[in-house]
Formats: sequence, C-alpha cells, structure tokens
Amino acid sequence: MLNVVVLVSGGGTNLQAILDKISSGELTNTRISAVISNNEGAYALTRAECAGIPAECISPKQFETREQFHQALLAGVKKYAPDLVVLAGFLVILPPELIAEYKNRILNIHPSLIPSFCGTGYYGLKVHEAVLARGVKLTGATVHFVDESTDTGPILLQKAVEVKQGDTVKQLQQRVMEEAEWEILPKAIHAVANGTVRFEDGKAWILEGEAQ
Ligand code: GRF
Repeated sequence: MLNVVVLVSGGGTNLQAILDKISSGELTNTRISAVISNNEGAYALTRAECAGIPAECISPKQFETREQFHQALLAGVKKYAPDLVVLAGFLVILPPELIAEYKNRILNIHPSLIPSFCGTGYYGLKVHEAVLARGVKLTGATVHFVDESTDTGPILLQKAVEVKQGDTVKQLQQRVMEEAEWEILPKAIHAVANGTVRFEDGKAWILEGEAQ
C-alpha cells in the first residue's frame, strides 16, 4: 500500500480527483495519509476532512523566518512517513531539504505541456493567460517528478487539450483540469503505487500498456 501525503494550496480539485479514483477502484494500492496546506483557508483542507483524512495547515505566516517554515513543513511531512509526496496545486517553493529527502518520490501536476509555459511565474491562471496570449492550439497538463528547480524534473505523464477560439482564461483552465489534470495525476500515482514506473537516462516512463 503506497502511503501518500498530498500538499495543497487552493480548491483541491486535483485532490478530489485522487480521492474519487481511489473510491472508484481505478487508483489502487494507495492510501492518502494526510493533506497539508500552506493556506488555512484552502477548500482542499475541507475536502480532506470530509473524506476523514488528517488535514493540517503549515503556513509561512506561523513562523518568523522562512527557514523555520521549511523545517516545520519537512517535519510535518516526515511525521506521516510517506512513500510518495504529491503536489496538487501547491504554490509554495519546496525546501531543498524536502526535495533531497524525497528524491524521485515527489510528483507535481503543472497545467501546461512542459517545457512550454512553465518555470518561475507560471502558475494557476497565469499559465492559461500566457497560452491564450501566444495563440497556441494545443495545451494540456504534465505530471513530473520534482527536482531542485521549478517544473524541471523527469516528466512522467502528459495529456494534450485543445484551445478553442474565444476561450476565456477560466474556460481554458477548467477544460485543462477536467480533460487532463484530473486524469493524469491519479494515473501517475497509480503507476507509482503498482510499481510500473521506470527511470532510464534521467527520463521517467510508465511500462507500456500499464497507464490505463
Ligand atoms: C490547477 O490548475 C492546478 O494545476 C494548479 O492550481 C490549480 C488549482 O488546483 N497548480 P486545485 O483545484 O487546488 O487542485
């Protein structure tokens, strides 16, 4: 059973997608042991509580220094001894100590096809604003392992989504969440939980035929 801690900052729709796939049996061998948010008002915490999952807020506002916050977040995650840490709409830069502690055991969902529209400053609606401003016809979402930089770790899964003429930023964000994020993040966790992820030359793959 894969023990997972999910880090969240906002509405928690990606968290909900994970919980729903566990309930439906599509995501197996997985237990969400805790949900931690940097934002005490995050509706994602409510979603966790409704699902009977321990939910807590560890916010930079609770500490005098960023270093103290980093130590508290690391301790807060380690307390649950996760096999995997999932960043589901988590908008805080991770402490280097956390990344080192969980090398190749942290997954992040990014709402674009990396390496497009990613890196510093590209998060949430800003990603979709840039997509519409550039006029690309395809966007999508990416699940990748987290390394020391922003959105640069090994890509595990991606799914493309059509950009439609006249899309508003919100309409595009919703389509990317519905058609891509909420599908590939649970699939990626399922692959880790069922031992079908392979690393080759610094690249991550799911064994053929396994990413159902
Ligand atoms: C999503 O677009 C996610 O990709 C981004 O934050 C948005 C909200 O995520 N990182 P959620 O509803 O909190 O899961």
